[in-house]
Amino acid sequence: MNEIAEKVRELVRPYAGKPTELIQALHRVQSALGYLPKEAQAVVAEMLEVPPSQVRGVVTFYHFFRTKPAGRHTIRVCLGTACHVRGAERVLSALSEELKVELGGTTADGKFTLEAARCLGCCGLAPVMMIDEEVYGKLDPKEARQVVRGIP
Ligand code: FES
Repeated sequence: MNEIAEKVRELVRPYAGKPTELIQALHRVQSALGYLPKEAQAVVAEMLEVPPSQVRGVVTFYHFFRTKPAGRHTIRVCLGTACHVRGAERVLSALSEELKVELGGTTADGKFTLEAARCLGCCGLAPVMMIDEEVYGKLDPKEARQVVRGIP
């Protein structure tokens, strides 16, 4: 058994034979590995006694699960109501264009992963994005581009 499979087996042992714990188990594995590679999904399916197609379905349905390693920095653009009405989609499009990456994807150089969030809890600063733990508010598309250009 390879290293990943062995680690995943260890992580999901508490959920063995419990299909209803699928999301919990996947969260646990992603927290440990940073993402959910195919072999990890296969072990989860086997251990929880869930069809592999169901695991795949859950992983692709929920945006917080990822199947590839994240970039060195994670950008989360808020698409919650307050940010939406203040132009969050334009900020997201600008970043997507600037970084040449789709939502949920990672740049070719592995520097950034671009994600969306529901509400980052600072609606007064809308539209908002976070890069790692740092909050950037009252953005417009141009400022958002400048911020990412300034990240080393
Ligand atoms: S809606 Fe964007 S921070 Fe709350």
